Parts: sequence; structure tokens; C-alpha cells
Amino acid sequence: MGKKVALISGITGQDGSYLAEQLLEKGYEVHGIIRRNSSDSTGNLAILETGYHNPLKKVNLHYGDVTDSNNVDKLMRKIQPDEVYNLAAQSHVRISFDIPEYTANVDALGTLRFLESIVKNDLVKKTKFYQASTSELYGEVQEIPQTEKTPFYPRSPYAVAKMYSYWIVVNYREAYGVFACNGILFNHESFRRGLSFITKKVVNLAVKIKKGKMDKMFLGNLYSKRDWGYAPEYTEAMWEILQHDQPEDFVIATGETHTIKELVEEVFVNLGDSVRWEGEGLEEKGILNSNGQVVVEIDPHYFRPTEVNLLIGDATKAKEVLGWEAKTRFKDLVKIMVSDELKSMQ
Ligand code: NAP
Ligand code: GDD
Repeated sequence: MGKKVALISGITGQDGSYLAEQLLEKGYEVHGIIRRNSSDSTGNLAILETGYHNPLKKVNLHYGDVTDSNNVDKLMRKIQPDEVYNLAAQSHVRISFDIPEYTANVDALGTLRFLESIVKNDLVKKTKFYQASTSELYGEVQEIPQTEKTPFYPRSPYAVAKMYSYWIVVNYREAYGVFACNGILFNHESFRRGLSFITKKVVNLAVKIKKGKMDKMFLGNLYSKRDWGYAPEYTEAMWEILQHDQPEDFVIATGETHTIKELVEEVFVNLGDSVRWEGEGLEEKGILNSNGQVVVEIDPHYFRPTEVNLLIGDATKAKEVLGWEAKTRFKDLVKIMVSDELKSMQ
């Protein structure tokens, strides 16, 4: 039997880059869709591009965009993938309030374009489809912790668009028999996370503050809670979901939740310091205990019109059915991210 062929949309992102590396290691022929950008967006793929020293580490990149049906369809017909991982998204929740229509085009209709291509091109028996669904679907949570059975209550244009994708995956599975699955992934982080997401932002800026390169950071809501895991473990779960003998949906989470404040505190502890909090509301400040420096202030720009206050997932089904379990918990995640950030700034 020849190599299995995988197509990853969103390959330049945090998850796409880890997944590409893992699939190459498993012996897949890996294809990825990259957008034409004015400045380079392939930083996360650096390891793959050093394939010169290791010919096995090669990924086939194709220009494309999931808003372009012809492009999606053409790539699907050309590549004839055994597995599609649809990770492409306008993935920033707050920014989805600024560009809701674009977000819907990418995050909702992008998914439909792949599924339609599978059905139209007679790929139903060949191609398995993974959809990057999200804990944001739970929004104003109806149950704690959240499982595959918890009702959705999306709280942003991003989450509403992802809700369309969730259901169109279920519908194409039931209507046409597509092997299509939702991974309902809770927040997962790493050095490769985009700079505008909270974990990477706090780690990156805290390191700069401790190195004397800047004075303080501005954050939004310090009180929301997230279930943060380590990204490479979550991309491994994506693959496992598609290897299961039938198409199903899975929650992927650590089962532990922390506030943004706790994140800030833990980051500074890993930098040999500690933070105390003074003031309330917009006047709340984070202050370094070592020297009294104000390192955190609030900027309402980062508030969302509707917030998701609490996420905590129950990944029991993934453990029982797939044997998947989160290994890296909050404290170790922060340790890894701070250490990787320090190395990158040496
Ligand atoms: P990310 O780092 O923001 O990556 C998003 C990827 O999508 C990038 O490669 C981006 O390309 C690409 N993309 C954006 N718009 C596109 C378009 N119109 N056509 C083609 N590609 C496009 O996101 P991530 O953290 O890796 O997350 C991967 C997926 O999982 C996303 O769908 C996200 O919504 C979902 N998700 C993430 C988490 C999480 O905690 N990370 C949790 C649940 C679900 P450029 O590099 O050109 O921008
Ligand atoms: N980004 C950001 N920047 N968030 C902040 C800030 C700030 O300065 N200050 C406070 N926060 C709060 C947000 O209000 C939110 O409650 C929390 O930090 C996490 O924000 P993000 O890191 O931007 O992630 P997210 O939870 O909104 O969305 C991420 O996880 C989802 C899965 O639950 C993204 O990766 C989504 O694509 C993903 O679906």
C-alpha cells in the first residue's frame, strides 16, 4: 500500500504546523494550503523546510484560500487526499466582532466547500474529514464541565460561524455517509501560538518586561477562565479521531481551568518574581513584588462585547474510546512556554 495522503488547511498556523510534522513522522505524504501573503507566514513551518538534511521531512505547499470554492475543489481533485484536516480559520474571537462576515465566509462556508467537494467528486469512500471545532461553541455554558452532550450557546461571530461548521459536518455524515468528525478542542497553546492570544501575549511581554525591554502590558478581562492544554498533544488527538473505526465527535481538554490572573501570576513565578493585584475594574493593576513596578494595566480595547466566562472540558469519551488524555497541565504548560520564549530571545 502506498503512503497515506493528508491535506491540511491552515498549515501555517500553530496546529497545522505541529500536525504536519506529526503526519510526516507517521509516513504520510503531506499537503498544505497556504495563502498568498505580502509578508512571510511560514515561520511555524521552519522545521519542515530544513528537509534538506532529512529528505523525509517534506511538505507540499499549495497556494489557496478556503473562501475560493474553485481553488478548494481543484486542490481536492488534484491531491485526492485520504484525510483532510480543516484547520483554516479566522481564529481570533475578539477580531470576529470586527470582521463578522469574513469570519463566516472562512469559518463556516470554508467547511462546506470541502464537504461539497468530497461528495461532488465521489470521494466519500476515500476521504476522511476532520473539522477544527471549538469549546467556544459552549459560550455561555449550560453545564460544567462541558461534554459532547452539552448544549451550545455561542457568544461571538467566530463561535456562531464554527457552529455552522459543526452541524454541517454532522449533516454530511448523516446525509451522505462522509467520514466527517468534529474535534471539539479546548484552548491549546505553545510557543507557536499567535502573539495576540492571551498565553503567548503574556509570556512574550513578561519576558520582555523582565529583560527591561518594556515597562508593562495592557490586558482585557482578567477574570475569564480557560482550560489550557499543550498544542502538540491536541494535534495528535486530531489524527486519532480520524483513525477511529467510525466517525464521531470528541471533546479534547485537560479538565482544569484557570483565570487570566492566575496565568499572569504563574508566568511571573516562572521568571523568578511574583505579582500582587491592587485596585478594581479599569483601575486594577498587577504589580511586581520584587520592585513595585506596575506590569499589568487594563485596556478596555481587549474586552469583548460578549465574553465566554468559563470553559472546562470533560474529555472522558476521548480517553475511553481513543485512549487520548492530556499529559501537560497548566503549570507545566506555562513552564514550557516561558522556557521556549526565553530560548528564542537569547
Ligand atoms: P491559527 O494559528 O490562527 O491558524 C489559522 C490558520 O488558518 C493559518 O494557517 C491561517 O493562514 C489559515 N487561514 C486563515 N484564513 C484562511 C483562509 N481564508 N484560507 C486559507 N487559510 C486560512 O489557529 P490555530 O490555533 O492553529 O487553530 C487551528 C484551528 O483550530 C482553527 O480553525 C481554530 O479556529 C481552531 N481551534 C483552535 C483552538 C486553539 O486553542 N488553538 C481551539 C479550538 C479550535 P495565515 O498564516 O496565512 O494567516
Ligand atoms: N487575546 C486576548 N488579549 N485575550 C485577553 C486579553 C488580551 O489582551 N486580556 C484578557 N483576555 C481574555 C479574553 O477576553 C478571553 O476570555 C481569554 O483571555 C482568552 O482569550 P484568547 O487567548 O484570545 O482565546 P479565546 O479563548 O478567545 O479563543 C481561543 O480558544 C478557542 C477555544 O476555546 C482561540 O484559539 C479560538 O480560535 C479557539 O476556538
